[in-house]
Amino acid sequence: MSFTPVVDILHSATPLERVRIGGWVRTRRDAKGFTFLELNDGSCLANVQCIVDEGTPAHARLEGVNTGAAVAVSGALVESPGKGQKWEVRAEEMTVFGLADPESFPLQKKRHSDEFLRSIAHLRARTNKYGAAFRIRSEAALAVHRFFAGRGFACVHTPVLTGSDCEGAGEMFRVTTGDVCGAPAPANGDEFFGKACNLTVSGQLEAECLALGLGKVYSFGPTFRAENSNTPRHAAEFWMIEPEAAFADLEDNMELGESLTRFVVGQVLERRAEDVELFDKFVDKGLIARLQSIVEQPFARCPYREAVKILASSGRAFDFPAVFGKDLQTEHERFLSEEHFKRPVIVFDYPKEIKAFYMRLNDDGETVAAMDVLVPRIGELIGGSQREERLDVLTARIRELGQDPAAYWWYLDLRRFGSVPHSGFGMGFERLVMLLTGISNIRDAIPFPRTPGSLEF
Ligand code: 4AD
Ligand code: MG
Repeated sequence: MSFTPVVDILHSATPLERVRIGGWVRTRRDAKGFTFLELNDGSCLANVQCIVDEGTPAHARLEGVNTGAAVAVSGALVESPGKGQKWEVRAEEMTVFGLADPESFPLQKKRHSDEFLRSIAHLRARTNKYGAAFRIRSEAALAVHRFFAGRGFACVHTPVLTGSDCEGAGEMFRVTTGDVCGAPAPANGDEFFGKACNLTVSGQLEAECLALGLGKVYSFGPTFRAENSNTPRHAAEFWMIEPEAAFADLEDNMELGESLTRFVVGQVLERRAEDVELFDKFVDKGLIARLQSIVEQPFARCPYREAVKILASSGRAFDFPAVFGKDLQTEHERFLSEEHFKRPVIVFDYPKEIKAFYMRLNDDGETVAAMDVLVPRIGELIGGSQREERLDVLTARIRELGQDPAAYWWYLDLRRFGSVPHSGFGMGFERLVMLLTGISNIRDAIPFPRTPGSLEF
């Protein structure tokens, strides 16, 4: 079975004698002497219109073919006399693969709510909006790989099963073989590995090991957090892009995060224009202008101390007061990027108390070389830092947090043997997709979202 992708057909410069398209019927309209079929094959937003004339072998196969049916049509690609499309297919032959009963097929041609479509996530890739979202997601992922390839970063794979908690926030899913297949749960926890096992919250610690051998690396994989926060920005399973570079400080890290963001936005605008337009039109008016300004304008930069002052003197009644030493809330992050700076802003040098143990202590003894990239409508897109490369400072910090440095022996070895300033960050990929599409709920930026209480599909 070989088919011509609709995206190629629509970009064809000349008529083609014979095309064969496999796709799903979006609409069928019967007219006198012929039938219109709009087919969509998922390769692009646009459908291809097929004219099925009475008397053709294709026409004889139309019985029961309705919205949702999977068919293959072959015929000639000709210039369309109708409005709205350059080309149409004059169908000759048709194969019907699978019908869709109009009584029960849930995706009839009308607008459905996001909530309803979440309940049929197995079918939503067949709608315009989710087809476009998942093509943009794909384009963004490919752009991430191109970006790092262009800068000489090695692509590495960090483990999903881990024995350590990178962020120290205790938001981990435990993994156990206990009670599976009727076997009794082991009395003392998880014994497969001889120690407790979790799903990773971040591949950073392992990425650091690899960066301190390969120089520049990035991982791009799934991460898991059991934070029970039912927000439009948190998922229990999400994908993270985590670069890590040796011989790199906070400044280099900020430059990398900004360049990555602007590169991916630029690539998606250029390569998925039609899909982005759909979001600009129907989901988030002003999206394209915002994305273009991200590509064109440098991000703002602001020390945390300064950011707190801006928030405190904003005259805004926030739900949480902005005070030095407290983490920024989404409302603060959005205010800073949307209203104050009116563009993405990188906030850096956060108080050490609100950041993870591995961040490099600044000379003031109070703040760490952390940086978060905050973007309009979403808030935090990237979180990262320069890492503490000094063995004594890092060991003291681990103790300060009531932890046992012995548990981090391999991580501390990196500081014992050939330690060097290095830095990295994590970019939440679903949040990037939200930025690229204007989708306001993370559940719609990933095909099969995992959130509290939701594990269907
Ligand atoms: O700021 P975070 O927690 O940073 C880290 O995990 C570092 N270890 C990364 C590193 O330096 N290598 O998470 C990084 C990003 C956040 O900025 C956010 O975009 C995203 O991951 N993120 C989530 N996205 C969706 N759902 C969640 N529950 C998320 N938690 C974090
Ligand atoms: Mg963070």
